[in-house]
Amino acid sequence: MTDRSARRVLVTGASRGIGRAIVKRLAMRHHRVVANARDAAALKDVARLAPDRITVMVGDLTDVEQRDALVPRAAEELGGLDVLVNCAGVLRYGEVGAIVEQDLIATLKVNLLAPLLLAQAAAPYLAKRGGCVVNVASTLGIRPAPGLAGYAASKAALLSVTRTLAAELAPAVRVNAVAPGVVDTDMPRQLRGADPAQDPREAVDRQLKELTALHPLGRLGCPEEVADAVLFCMEAEWMTGSVLTLDGGLLAV
Ligand SMILES: NC(=O)c1ccc[n+]([C@@H]2O[C@H](COP(=O)([O-])OP(=O)(O)OC[C@H]3O[C@@H](n4cnc5c(N)ncnc54)[C@H](OP(=O)(O)O)[C@@H]3O)[C@@H](O)[C@H]2O)c1
Repeated sequence: MTDRSARRVLVTGASRGIGRAIVKRLAMRHHRVVANARDAAALKDVARLAPDRITVMVGDLTDVEQRDALVPRAAEELGGLDVLVNCAGVLRYGEVGAIVEQDLIATLKVNLLAPLLLAQAAAPYLAKRGGCVVNVASTLGIRPAPGLAGYAASKAALLSVTRTLAAELAPAVRVNAVAPGVVDTDMPRQLRGADPAQDPREAVDRQLKELTALHPLGRLGCPEEVADAVLFCMEAEWMTGSVLTLDGGLLAV
């Protein structure tokens, strides 16, 4: 790849899981990346994958000042911005009767407000060289599940935002989303309503087995597979307003 085709990319949620895999794939393809999350030590470790191509930018997306500073800082660091990957996400489990307002607010701030407001801030930069936004949504935004009302609503709204921005920013900027099924990261290891008397390790194993069983292909997704889908969205020049699901068949059954 020549320097001309190297893209300047801001990735949120880059400290672990899917975001880390996206940063790694981008750097392998010689793109230049600003990697954002809160965990400075984990981000430093990500930057070691390709120190000449990855710059760390620590920041909390629930903090208005830090969020609003992120796009201008990233554009300054990279000399412009071609791609925004909104990957940061939080999942707070709560069945009806145990839903907590603060959890809903935190979920909406990270999963919905940040992607929309970062895209708004990024749009003028992205428009200069035919750039794009890729939002990491979820199959739960298409088919919700019990105990995840706030998370599923945030991802459904993110899919709506994807389509609205695609229409509004065309033809200068493309906006797409990927919607993974359950992916093997820390997120599906957070316990969702397990019996408090159960051994936590056994409860996690059991939860992972139950989640795996939702997928006809018989396994969870890998972060690298989602990263490949994100790169596909970046490169598919006639694609905008689309949702690319990769879910081991979860939505087919
Ligand atoms: N794993 C799955 O099964 C699955 C399925 C479908 C969709 N997704 C979506 O894929 C994305 C990545 O998920 P994952 O599985 O990789 O989750 P993860 O391992 O829990 O990582 C979440 C990432 O979001 C960042 N983040 C969380 N709160 C933040 C905040 N306030 N400010 C800045 N960064 C914040 C975290 O970084 P810090 O903690 O360092 O801030 C971390 O890098 C999320 O949007 C998730 O909803 C996941």
